[in-house]
Amino acid sequence: MPRHFLRDDDLSPREQKEVLALGLELADDRFARRPLEGPRTVAIVFDKSSTRTRVSFATGVAELGGSPLVIEAAASQLGRGESIADTTEVLTRMVSAIVWRTFGQERIEEMAAHATVPVVNALTDEFHPCQILADLLTIAQHTGGLADGDAALAGRALAYLGDGANNMAHSYLLGGATAGMDVRIAAPASHRPDPRIVSRAQEIAARTGGRITLTDDPRAAVTGATAVLTDTWVSMGQEGEDGRGQETFAPFQVTEELMELSGGLFLHCLPAYRGKEVTAGVIDGPRSVVWDEAENRLHAQKALLTWLLEHPDESTAPHARPVAQRR
Ligand code: CP
Ligand code: NVA
Repeated sequence: MPRHFLRDDDLSPREQKEVLALGLELADDRFARRPLEGPRTVAIVFDKSSTRTRVSFATGVAELGGSPLVIEAAASQLGRGESIADTTEVLTRMVSAIVWRTFGQERIEEMAAHATVPVVNALTDEFHPCQILADLLTIAQHTGGLADGDAALAGRALAYLGDGANNMAHSYLLGGATAGMDVRIAAPASHRPDPRIVSRAQEIAARTGGRITLTDDPRAAVTGATAVLTDTWVSMGQEGEDGRGQETFAPFQVTEELMELSGGLFLHCLPAYRGKEVTAGVIDGPRSVVWDEAENRLHAQKALLTWLLEHPDESTAPHARPVAQRR
């Protein structure tokens, strides 16, 4: 079976560290690795809108020596009802990896079950694991890199405020626990994380020395946090749902006062809505590292693709190997 990255806990703590270390290396020397030279093609498929993910994967694949093939699902047969299984069978005959942004997690799991090349989750309703790699890289860059062992991430607090039931909250739980961090989710009772993901994060944290806290008190969550994070109150596909406005989330808006309590960095996966989940003063202010974070999508994903391609498996499709190695 090829290695896939469908959710944050698909990388062990050691593997996550390897990917992040490579990400830091690639941030310093963008063209240091060329695993897609040939060029080998990577399909980057979108069922939902995207700016950063589209640009960072397309640029990243090109910088790794490969050829990015961006596919709008709506303009492909997948969008007209061709099955995931049939689509995957065809793609894996030609490309070296598949990156997919889609709806339910079960869709990307079905693709991975049929794929003979790595499948990477570029956001589902449940998880956004590539974003968390970029966020961890950003925090590490601003806390002294990974040279001091675990100190850049492990034991540090990460406070996420807002919709605790969305893909970002779930990925912070799993990815943060994997990094051994103190993950605090501050959300209204109506929008708490999926208990199954909380249990899984607790299980990982028990091994890595991390900690998981769920609270409805944003002040307690941010106090002393190395990073304060938030996300839109209305994720893609949730437009028009009741109870997603100020009436629910106003106490969880990231304000200058909360940032003072934290004394840490402000991160947002973007796109951001100033005056909703964050004030303009915070996102455009001195503690904000959102542009570094956006750039780090490129470095983190190049590192991830390189890592996945450098850990090939016997069942990797013949076309994905050099001709001399084909049976
Ligand atoms: N953060 C993020 O995934 O942005 P896009 O939706 O623009 O890809
Ligand atoms: N939670 C957001 C993240 C966007 C990158 C969404 O799913 O729309």
